[in-house]
Amino acid sequence: MLAPPPAFPDERACAAVRTTLQARLAAGERSALGRVLAEGEALPESAVRDACAGAYEAFRASGLLVEDGGLVRATVQLQEHAGRLFASDRRELHRAGAAQFVLGVGPVTARIASLLPLRAGARVLDVGCGCGVLAVLAAAQAQAVTALDLNPRALAFTRFNAQLNGCDNIETLEGDLYAPVTGRQFDVIVSNAPYVISPDTTFLYRDGGRDLCERLARATPAHLAPDGCALLAVNWPEHDAGSWQGTLAGWVDGSGCDLWVLSTEHTVPDGYARLWLMQQYPDRIPPGEIDRWTAAYAAQRIVRLHGGYLVMHRPRARDPWIEFRDLPPFDPLAGRAIDRVLAARDLAASHDDSALLEQRLTPIPGLLAIERRVAGPAGWQVQAVDLRPADGLRLALRVDPLAAELIGWFDGTRSVATAVRAFAQARALDAAPLLQATPPLLRRLLDAGLLVAT
Ligand SMILES: C[S@@+](CC[C@H](N)C(=O)[O-])C[C@H]1O[C@@H](n2cnc3c(N)ncnc32)[C@H](O)[C@@H]1O
Repeated sequence: MLAPPPAFPDERACAAVRTTLQARLAAGERSALGRVLAEGEALPESAVRDACAGAYEAFRASGLLVEDGGLVRATVQLQEHAGRLFASDRRELHRAGAAQFVLGVGPVTARIASLLPLRAGARVLDVGCGCGVLAVLAAAQAQAVTALDLNPRALAFTRFNAQLNGCDNIETLEGDLYAPVTGRQFDVIVSNAPYVISPDTTFLYRDGGRDLCERLARATPAHLAPDGCALLAVNWPEHDAGSWQGTLAGWVDGSGCDLWVLSTEHTVPDGYARLWLMQQYPDRIPPGEIDRWTAAYAAQRIVRLHGGYLVMHRPRARDPWIEFRDLPPFDPLAGRAIDRVLAARDLAASHDDSALLEQRLTPIPGLLAIERRVAGPAGWQVQAVDLRPADGLRLALRVDPLAAELIGWFDGTRSVATAVRAFAQARALDAAPLLQATPPLLRRLLDAGLLVAT
């Protein structure tokens, strides 16, 4: 039996709980309160009451703590992430296979949060909000956040976490995918949907599979405002015939949106089944379960299962592009880099060569130029230079040594054309061929998001 999600009876209780938690948990103290709320222990009432410093009744009235035979235990799991606090369901409900289990902050949530393009003043939509982690994280910079979920318990947790973190710009709506926001458009859409491809329908948060991912992807473009950007965590199968790249491209066909597939996992069926079943049964996977899952994949001729993120972007006035890449290791600034690359590609597409030369461009902060030298008769010769961003998506580009030197002259205080002429003069080179070669170089650099306009 699932306990009802917590709810603050009034603003005073909310303030009392928030202040106490911020003081006790965010400071990293291993207090009695932390042991009960974060670690799931049951402790004597007197110890918990002391730790609550006068807010004990507010914790009880909010449904966070219950008394149980002289001991006090939590009804939720409380986690701290990125300076915010999140209540979600306790792990034992997961082990019990509760369909409406509401997930807390896990590695995928943290990863998608790092990829979120946080745009000041944006209208943000979180599809499948769970306990509201992404909605709350987006709320600080957003004008307004709409959080949707099919699970009413998830929406109750989202409302609770919004209040707990002092967010008053989050609305919650119940329904299937985009149904509650028919006809509405958003600047940023994020979704960590139930993407797991499984033969089961055990968990609402997990077992949506390929069909849900496809429905989500196909429905997204209609809800993106011009220049809007969506970030969807998805899984997709690879069959023994046909290309998965073609299948994913088909999901956005005719939508007018860019599609950037950033893959994170490419797993064989046995490994995929084991990964998810281990989460469901951390102590021991019941005999036969892995075989049951892999038999379901075999029946569908699935040879591999892929995971990653779909970035969709509605360009203002150019043809859309599609690109497939592996996502580099976790980087908390990857979301900013996604927006930077999209803006750079838009700039390249909306300027012809002569207009591009008149732009004031400069390398992105922290761009590294790594020389590749080879030994020759005259000593070390610089053969090529690899331009590598220090953070974000780390899209690197190899250029010749002269181009690398020229790029160093793009200081953003003057047009590229002026910088090229100054470089040519300083190096006693003919400016005309350099000017002719520069637009293709700029386009390659902008495509990788290595230049910004000042
Ligand atoms: C993996 S959880 C993600 C929760 C949260 N966004 C996060 O990142 O931690 C997926 C959520 O999608 C919800 N969901 C499942 N099917 C849905 C549907 N058809 N429409 C809307 N939400 C759905 C589940 O109830 C669950 O809360």
